[in-house]
Amino acid sequence: MKTELLDSSPHSIGRACAILESQKIVALPTETVYGLAGNAFDEASVRKIFSAKSRPYFDPLIVHISLKVLSDPAGVLHALIRDGILAPSLAASSDRSNFEALVKAFWPGPLTLVVPRGPLIPDVVTGGHPTVAIRMPSHEVFQSVLGLLSFPLAAPSANRFGRISPTTAEHVRAELDGRIAAIVDGGPCGIGVESTIIRLEEGGIRLLRPGGVSSAEIASITGSVPRTQQRLHSSAPEAPGMLDEHYAPRKPLFLIPEPIDSHPDLRELLRELGDSSRLGLLLHAPVRSSFDVSSFKSHRILSGSGDGAEAARNLFSFMRELDEDPFVDVILADLPENHFEGMFAAIADRLQRASRNKPLGQSVKKL
Ligand code: TXA
Ligand code: MG
Repeated sequence: MKTELLDSSPHSIGRACAILESQKIVALPTETVYGLAGNAFDEASVRKIFSAKSRPYFDPLIVHISLKVLSDPAGVLHALIRDGILAPSLAASSDRSNFEALVKAFWPGPLTLVVPRGPLIPDVVTGGHPTVAIRMPSHEVFQSVLGLLSFPLAAPSANRFGRISPTTAEHVRAELDGRIAAIVDGGPCGIGVESTIIRLEEGGIRLLRPGGVSSAEIASITGSVPRTQQRLHSSAPEAPGMLDEHYAPRKPLFLIPEPIDSHPDLRELLRELGDSSRLGLLLHAPVRSSFDVSSFKSHRILSGSGDGAEAARNLFSFMRELDEDPFVDVILADLPENHFEGMFAAIADRLQRASRNKPLGQSVKKL
């Protein structure tokens, strides 16, 4: 199939809507990453998403909803129940107050909530699970499309399954050209890593994926820090969202969970990784010590000032560039000392997943 490349003019938005209404799928920009969208109420549309991405059916999708519900006189919760997206049981459950407080604080924006699903969400969206992941993106283009449609949009990131998420229309083209009906170009994504996913359960909260909203921000609204969940090493339908290997470049990526210049055995480590001239460095900030970055042909610095938001915005782009660099065989990434909060928690999560299951050298093992 020929993939149409659309700009974000009103005419193109109308065209994207017509394509979606005819059960085809379109890549759209969100504030986090580009999503591959299809009618969330329509099984045939959703199946096309899985097949374009080569995504296994046990990995469920996020349903994106219009900001029109924020001004619904019924209130967001009741509007979503009425529209068949959420289960009526949520209204009477102990999770209701957290749901309403989190929606008020973070929607539209990069927070996805996993809650009991309503009758109009087909099994294919949720992998047959009784829950659905929903979010309200803040991106103007995505919202313009939703505003013209009568259904919500299921949308995973617009990459082949397991690959690096796209943050520009060009990245989407590289991944999915010829496999989807259209791509709407809305420029580079402002946040650059995917939404935070949390599951509401028995009045508490479990963090399934760190992202654009930090645990501290969530705690400031709900009064407690989300619990975390161990990731799994294989497909496990009972715990969607927890797949271990993801966001991976094609080349091996090794991660040092600290600044590269504070690693005690750096020389030994570099020797084990092979020919240094073939090593691509993905650094969270400029190095402070005498460690000479310029001797590495290919290096990228996520943020000149060590800023988490800027680093997140650059992460997938730079990872992709090093992956495509013909002079690079192996990628070595580092992290700041304190990478458990804010955007660096999301960056650390993506780098850890990208580095998983690669052959580990001896000194790398010691890390
Ligand atoms: O920022 C984002 O969230 C982007 C943009 C496009 O909105 N979307 C995105 O979708 O990252 P995707 O499919 O790449 O990741 C969604 C994750 C999956 O790992 C999936 O397993 C999890 O959400 N998920 C979906 N439904 C779930 C459910 N019912 N329970 C637990 N996890 C779920
Ligand atoms: Mg994804």
